[in-house]
Amino acid sequence: MNTKIMEDYKRYVVSTYNRFPVVMVKGQGCLVWDLEGKEYLDLVAGVAVNSLGHAHPCVVDALNSQAPELIHTSNLYYTIPQVELAKKISNASFGGKVFFANSGAEANEAAIKLARRFGKANRGSTSGNGRYEIITMTNSFHGRTMATLTATGQEKIQKDFDPLVPGFRYVEFNNISAVEEAINENTCAVLVEPIQGEGGVNIPADDYLQELRKLCDTHHLLLMLDEVQTGIARTGLMFAYQHYNIVPDVMTLAKGLGGGLPIGAMVVSEKMADMLPPGSHASTFGATPLVCSAAIAVIDYILERNICSHVQQMGEYFIAKLQGLSLKYPAAIQNIRGKGLMIGMALKINGTDVVNECLSNGLLINCTAGDVLRFLPPLIITREEIDRAVDILDGVLKKN
Ligand SMILES: Cc1ncc(COP(=O)(O)O)c(C=O)c1O
Repeated sequence: MNTKIMEDYKRYVVSTYNRFPVVMVKGQGCLVWDLEGKEYLDLVAGVAVNSLGHAHPCVVDALNSQAPELIHTSNLYYTIPQVELAKKISNASFGGKVFFANSGAEANEAAIKLARRFGKANRGSTSGNGRYEIITMTNSFHGRTMATLTATGQEKIQKDFDPLVPGFRYVEFNNISAVEEAINENTCAVLVEPIQGEGGVNIPADDYLQELRKLCDTHHLLLMLDEVQTGIARTGLMFAYQHYNIVPDVMTLAKGLGGGLPIGAMVVSEKMADMLPPGSHASTFGATPLVCSAAIAVIDYILERNICSHVQQMGEYFIAKLQGLSLKYPAAIQNIRGKGLMIGMALKINGTDVVNECLSNGLLINCTAGDVLRFLPPLIITREEIDRAVDILDGVLKKN
């Protein structure tokens, strides 16, 4: 059966992914099962999407109650779940307004378009006439649409898609003077992940975002934070910027927001929200009532059950256990880094081999930036599940 499905994929699905040879059919909590009934502990969580794990009752109940009422109308009309969700996101962050889309890339597209209009309007600036340049970071990841892959500071993502979208400039991540040097009369915004995810779980210096905020204020630039991966409690606070005592002008969200349902959001400070007036941007599917019902359930659950505190505790526990492994296997592990439940283990050995062996042993993990194992478990993971994951990893590293 597995083979037949894989053959059908080969014939009918564009092969943009190198998939693992398993067919997933069911998920519950932090566990998933394949077609042959094999159980896996899922520390990929849909790449930070299944924030409350699989089939969480609060998400399932929300979908069951909303689906018979209204799944989709269009953004030509008002709907109650959409405004309720916007209110919750605004209240949990910096009081801004929300534009809804379906993915992280689309949320970033909205931010890029907003920055362009902000630059054109030249608001707050005395220099230039119509600024358009956006500074982004090397090793960043912002998506796969043309503008977002251009924003992404990685040649391998951009390769063969040129000509790219004009108006982006790349500087080294976690290097404030590089940003300062790159600012010119055309610059209108800085787009940055508070912690780089795909780039290898790279955590900047504690004052990096504060310094960026200061630079943006001085030069009248928008500070736009891509919290597609770091947002929705992933790092132990609702949004990663909240660790750093700053407020961005724009923040983008997706992944964990819908608990598995596709949604993206761009949050913009109230005073900049008029940069996207009626007709300037749109999304047919953006924030359907059904998808919003799931996202509302996710946010309510996180806030009511104090999941942020759980993430902080589990994150510390997990990192400590991984540090134990790094003492045990110094020839294999370079370092452990992370915040909350966004954790990276830089390896000195081949990461793909470790991921494949973990898969055979019932553990789903991911390898990014070539040699960084990335752990993005559901935010509800327990100590026992972390122990089970570390035991499997221990067994795999022993053999390598
Ligand atoms: C920080 C960041 N931004 C944007 C994206 C793109 O999101 P999507 O795949 O939903 O378009 C990702 C996806 O990994 C991401 O990690």
